[in-house]
Amino acid sequence: MSLLTTIARSATRAARPATRAVPAASLSLAARGVHTLPKLDYSYDALEPHISGKIMELHHSKHHQAYVNGLNAAEEAYAKAAAPKEQIKLQSALKFNGGGHINHSLFWKNLAPQSQGGGELKAGPLKDAIVADFGSVDAFKKKMNTVTAAIQGSGWGWLGYNPETKKLEIATTPNQDPLLSHVPIIGIDIWEHAFYLQYHNVKADYLTAIWNVINFKEAERRFVEAAKSA
Ligand SMILES: [Fe+2]
Repeated sequence: MSLLTTIARSATRAARPATRAVPAASLSLAARGVHTLPKLDYSYDALEPHISGKIMELHHSKHHQAYVNGLNAAEEAYAKAAAPKEQIKLQSALKFNGGGHINHSLFWKNLAPQSQGGGELKAGPLKDAIVADFGSVDAFKKKMNTVTAAIQGSGWGWLGYNPETKKLEIATTPNQDPLLSHVPIIGIDIWEHAFYLQYHNVKADYLTAIWNVINFKEAERRFVEAAKSA
């Protein structure tokens, strides 16, 4: 089993298991305990007006589902591949779909409706660390938005915890590459499918709006756990 696959399985275990009915066609896969689309903790329209319900529905039910399906298909093909060359041919599919599954599973937990505390960074260890490492919360958001907006093509902007420096740092990954250099604390999806229906080509408006629904409680939980294990 590849490292990526191991990470993907961990991400799936961390995500809330799907409770929807499994289509008959995928029962054989489900029986083997393969990856499933995690259920959201809120309704598709709960992040409005900052992220539209239509974006959330398509993003979760179509895009993330496609990564789940792609990862399951790639793992099934990998298990059957007899020769190293056949296995090597599958690496890019495993990385792309595995990364897509890991990143989106983190992203849904990363967001919360304002009625559930979305956008609110309370006094505590995460806020203290952000102020210590970036000067202020506003300076941190501005820097993360600038770095994320500058990604060429599709990718992800991250607030990550560096276990070596024991600091919070901003990082980016291209395509669906998962963040491996840091422990992910907050990830922002900057693929066009995450914002185009509502914000068209104006990435800056999407990046300004998303802070209103960032789940800082979840971010703080990840930060405390990462700092404890470092
Ligand atoms: Fe996405």
